[in-house]
Amino acid sequence: MTRTEAPPDYDFVGGVTDKRVFPFDQWRRCVSHALRVQARGRGAYHDPAGEQELRLAVARYLAFSRAVGSHWQEVIITQGAQQALDLLTRVAIRPGEVIAMEDPGYPPARILFAALGAHVVPVAVDEEGLIVDALPPNARMVYVTPSHQFPLGMPMSLERRLALLAWAQRHGALVVEDDYDGEYRFEGRPMESLKSLDTAGVVAYVGTFSKTIFPELRVGYVIPPAPLGTALRRAREVSDWHSCTMTQIALAKFMLDGYFAKHLRRMHKEYAARRAALLERLRGDLAQWFTPLPSAAGIHLVAAIRGPHDEAAMIRVAATRSVGLYGTAGMFAGTAPRPALLFGYGGIDVAGIQGGLGRLADALSGHRDAD
Ligand SMILES: Cc1ncc(COP(=O)(O)O)c(C=O)c1O
Repeated sequence: MTRTEAPPDYDFVGGVTDKRVFPFDQWRRCVSHALRVQARGRGAYHDPAGEQELRLAVARYLAFSRAVGSHWQEVIITQGAQQALDLLTRVAIRPGEVIAMEDPGYPPARILFAALGAHVVPVAVDEEGLIVDALPPNARMVYVTPSHQFPLGMPMSLERRLALLAWAQRHGALVVEDDYDGEYRFEGRPMESLKSLDTAGVVAYVGTFSKTIFPELRVGYVIPPAPLGTALRRAREVSDWHSCTMTQIALAKFMLDGYFAKHLRRMHKEYAARRAALLERLRGDLAQWFTPLPSAAGIHLVAAIRGPHDEAAMIRVAATRSVGLYGTAGMFAGTAPRPALLFGYGGIDVAGIQGGLGRLADALSGHRDAD
């Protein structure tokens, strides 16, 4: 989301990270290193797939933390996950062909697929994730968020993952796994990525640094099924050639020198505390208005609204106390929206969560009395 207006005092917006806890001193060192490397090099275009050291760092990180085994040469660096989705659609889908996606789902993906001429078919989710039996048989691509369904939050069950892979193999479809914030997992045993279960070569694995570093870095990556690799590199080359090499070299150093792993460990602890504070309040003094949906990962959670308020009324009441709340209705494309709010905790610390939810409880009590 692009914002121009001043944020509210307490902002539960999703999709942001907390700059206050990012190790900018270490980052500065990495950027200085990248500048030095760049000053020594020739002024020339580089590999469309990205800088070798970043591809190596990403492959190593994914093998270790997400059980995604890949050779570094399979990794293609992109301008965020969004460009990975763009390139995949361009090479795998002809205008008019069907892309199936979770409903509710990630609006920027839906808008992108439609803008590229695909026929986007929303497919309902339940507590196990995408309902594989409801997939349209003519889907050429299926876009899913199995680690942390966007926006509702549940992980896709192992049975569904296996069913989706079998379905894709049977129908000759490409599965796009968007693992946008799977590194933050707070409950249960680690979940296998779809990619790690994919023996038939049907999964394109997409990741991003938007949730682990910050969104304006604009770095993501895709590990496609092998036959798509060359086409993706060509598509990248004719689109914008490659990502900024200085950013890539800085990020590679940040990862290879261990700063990234340290940052992730620290943020995992920090986000766990924020999530716990949020859940405690939603299940405590706010329980008469909200029911948090089960979710084990990520940097946001969704809470269903218990009557009588609808989303818009809730958001309006909160805004009167400068608390920013965000609805999920706009994320449904086919199935009927259930009133629910998305609480992002990437950009608000524990004190902010307590302050914001305190104001919200006051506002809602006042609102109820006034009804
Ligand atoms: C489902 C999903 N995918 C991907 C992203 C990140 O995209 P990008 O890497 O383009 O910033 C987000 C960020 O909000 C997201 O919610």
